[in-house]
Amino acid sequence: MDKVIDENVQGSALILDTSQENNRKLYIESYGCQMNFSDSEIVASILATEGFNTTDRLEEADLVLVNTCSIREKAETNVRKRLEKFNAVKKTKPHMKVGVLGCMAERLKSQLLEEEKIVDMVVGPDAYKDLPNLIREIDEGRNAVNVILSKEETYGDIAPVRLNSNGVSAFVSITRGCDNMCTFCVVPFTRGRERSRDPQSIIKEINELWQQGYREVTLLGQNVDSYLWYGGGLKKDYDKASEIQKATAVDFAGLLSLAARSQPKMRIRFSTSNPQDMTLEVVKTMAKYQNICNYIHLPVQSGSDRILKAMNRLHTRKEYMTLIDDIRTIIPECGISQDIIAGFPSETEEDHRDTLSLMDHVKYDFGFMFAYSERPGTMAARKLADDVPDEVKKRRLTEIIDLQRKHSLYRTKKYLGKTEEVLIEGSSKKSDAHWMGRTSANTVVVFPKEDYKVGDFVDVTISDCTSATLLGNAVGLSENNG
Ligand code: 5AD
Ligand code: SF4
Repeated sequence: MDKVIDENVQGSALILDTSQENNRKLYIESYGCQMNFSDSEIVASILATEGFNTTDRLEEADLVLVNTCSIREKAETNVRKRLEKFNAVKKTKPHMKVGVLGCMAERLKSQLLEEEKIVDMVVGPDAYKDLPNLIREIDEGRNAVNVILSKEETYGDIAPVRLNSNGVSAFVSITRGCDNMCTFCVVPFTRGRERSRDPQSIIKEINELWQQGYREVTLLGQNVDSYLWYGGGLKKDYDKASEIQKATAVDFAGLLSLAARSQPKMRIRFSTSNPQDMTLEVVKTMAKYQNICNYIHLPVQSGSDRILKAMNRLHTRKEYMTLIDDIRTIIPECGISQDIIAGFPSETEEDHRDTLSLMDHVKYDFGFMFAYSERPGTMAARKLADDVPDEVKKRRLTEIIDLQRKHSLYRTKKYLGKTEEVLIEGSSKKSDAHWMGRTSANTVVVFPKEDYKVGDFVDVTISDCTSATLLGNAVGLSENNG
């Protein structure tokens, strides 16, 4: 991916095909991170038991839910535009109800009801189990709000309904919330404190996915490396755990091993990693199990020590580079991607050049790059002036994106002539005669379909590339099938 990804640009309508009596139609749109898409599958599951069938047609919806993102101002502006569209539809269907879920719901709370008259219901990320009650409230004509954040809720007991799925890869959430307090970030406020999900329920979900034909899972969390199960409760309360709880605790390396062993042919991915929490034990575990993919999304945000400190990132440029070097020593072929923010408060040209030089050192496979957007309530908004002019932010962002494109091409060219195992996910967007899949390192590969099918692991010899895609021809099914 060598362009700016703005999570809010594409919402996607999700379809659930169940046949229930007494059914009402639910239309649900999701914006933001993978966690939000995963949450929508939990919401669909909770509402399926209430007799809701999902539809991809807004016009036939009885209940419209929008699962929102607050990470940048633009994400919120786009949701508000969608609410205007819902308003237009509601004029022709007065009984239609509209609920706002997710991070915007948590950030703005009942203020949303005042600002957006179309909204009947506001539900934060930890309150989805209350949806049946809240829907009864709005059915009776009252507005409903639940934005209580939880210390325990992980939805570990809910079997998500897979929505818009390719039937091959699925998300499995393992932690919720974040305790890191990066000064630019709204997430600790919208998703609360960090807590981990019971490993047994995670492994059960992975086993069920395998039986249903899934061949790849991505373990999801705002900070997966910080995963720690000691019987439930907040990560920050681990010190108070009993000796037995501590002796039987499972950390992220332990969870990865459990997952890899319980389904040895299932590809295991994870996202997102935080430099200060990622241990070499995790990297060694990745190297030990062939089915754990050689790919790490390792946001750096900036290459300048001064800015990293102002961001409260808790690692230096040198520590980050040492971690990268260690990863490359243990797993030479590991794909590595970044998140970078351009124009954080007080960022100078020198700071910006530090970011470019760090990129030159790492040569990331791809990245997600953003201009700084001040978020109300965050430490940066309270303490630091948003003083880098917009045109400077944009110019620096463009330089970062251009450099990333160059590095992406450098990385994809290294594949030329090699044979890579690819898991087929579906047809190529550009050609129905070609399959699209990914390498272990998460690089997209496109090749002629021949007799292969979705879900096959295929060995593909790479003959051409762009900065974002490898092109090649299959040479046969890989050993991983069957
Ligand atoms: N402005 C711009 N980008 C941000 N991100 C998080 N908060 C902000 C913000 N206020 C980016 C970070 C993070 C990614 C998910 O979004 O790079 O890793
Ligand atoms: Fe957006 Fe962050 Fe919330 Fe995900 S956790 S939806 S990225 S604000």
